[in-house]
Amino acid sequence: MDFLNYQNGKLFAHGHAIADIAKQYGTPLYVYSQNYIETQWIEFDNALKRRKHLICYAIKANSNLAILNALVKLGSGFDIVSQGELERTLKAGADPKKIVFSGVAKSTTEIERALDVGIKCFNVESEAELYRIQDVAKRLNKVAPISLRINPDVDAKTHPYISTGLRENKFGISHQLGLDVYKKAAKLSHIEICGIDCHIGSQLTELSPFLDAADRILSLVDELKSAGITIKHIDFGGGLGVCYDDEVPPKSSDLVNALLKKLTHYPDIEILFEPGRSIVANSGILITKVEYIKHQDDNHFAIVDAGMNDLIRPALYEAWMRILPAEQAGPDKPSYRYNVVGPICESSDVLGKERELAAQQDDLLVVCSAGAYGFSMASNYNSHPRPAEVMVDDNTHRLIRQRETFDMLWQGEII
Ligand code: LLP
Repeated sequence: MDFLNYQNGKLFAHGHAIADIAKQYGTPLYVYSQNYIETQWIEFDNALKRRKHLICYAIKANSNLAILNALVKLGSGFDIVSQGELERTLKAGADPKKIVFSGVAKSTTEIERALDVGIKCFNVESEAELYRIQDVAKRLNKVAPISLRINPDVDAKTHPYISTGLRENKFGISHQLGLDVYKKAAKLSHIEICGIDCHIGSQLTELSPFLDAADRILSLVDELKSAGITIKHIDFGGGLGVCYDDEVPPKSSDLVNALLKKLTHYPDIEILFEPGRSIVANSGILITKVEYIKHQDDNHFAIVDAGMNDLIRPALYEAWMRILPAEQAGPDKPSYRYNVVGPICESSDVLGKERELAAQQDDLLVVCSAGAYGFSMASNYNSHPRPAEVMVDDNTHRLIRQRETFDMLWQGEII
């Protein structure tokens, strides 16, 4: 996280003291670097510049309108999985022709709206969904552009909760059935076959699963060609991992170059990716304040004001996320191996276990790499309003989402 550094023991983000940012906007607080997000996207895009391509940022990773709008300005496409995500991307100014629609349970209303605005492609995840899209398109007198999401049955070697490309996962159409379903799709009056799609999981730190999946996809592309079905684009999904601790994931250019080597015989096929985490994870931090310190027996707790409601990754996936003090303590301050825990009434409400810190009441801590699947997975559990979000760059910082108010907690509820 290059935009973070200590100066005289104090942590700064793009030259702004974390303590000052926290004072102005309060805690818990998400802070993102726009420069980092743009740089990540541009690197991915540049790696593909020799080919017709589209980077479709997976907005589930972080769907704040300011982030989406920054990517719109770079020319990004978007991968969405719900009508809510569709409306967000449109609100942020996205070109519908650059939107691909993934997800296993697209409703009739969602399909109608996507057809109405004219998205680039539906990534179809089952035969039943294909027929629903055909029916809706026929009724609206439109032609639906589709890809089949193929489940290549490869081990992504990641946490089971974020692995999606194995036979037992609910995602996609098994590669053995792919040819058959494509043949059926080709016969449908209001379906236009555009591409082929796969996404095998998230936080992948090795290239081999991507390459194995690509082999399966390409052999299907060949079979389709023999069957007279032309594929205009291949969507390799997202999944590229990032460094949370000491992982050394491939760079986006490594991934792209390795895949492009396999694609020399397919010069006219457009290449799509759906990266989420690799664009935003290390752009973001969560600033939290220590409310209390509690020492009991051999247990040391730093009880902070951010919890699993704000950042669920450690609780849900046992994810390890770096925790830094906003101010480094002098040698006179006692340090302990703290469990950094939140305010939520659940034992799993932990942000980090056994972290050596010299934390004291009212200190600020910073959870790193929180730009992806942080705010977007936040909830109001225990009736906590969700945190504010701030964008920083070298010159300024600005609020990009207000802290929720108590009134917002019961908005829409009826006594
Ligand atoms: N495309 C599809 C169809 C997806 O399902 C996903 C993520 C992506 C793209 C983006 O994958 P990425 O590049 O971000 O790995 N909440 C979990 C991650 C869940 C990922 C779900 N799908 C976490 O915090 O680790």
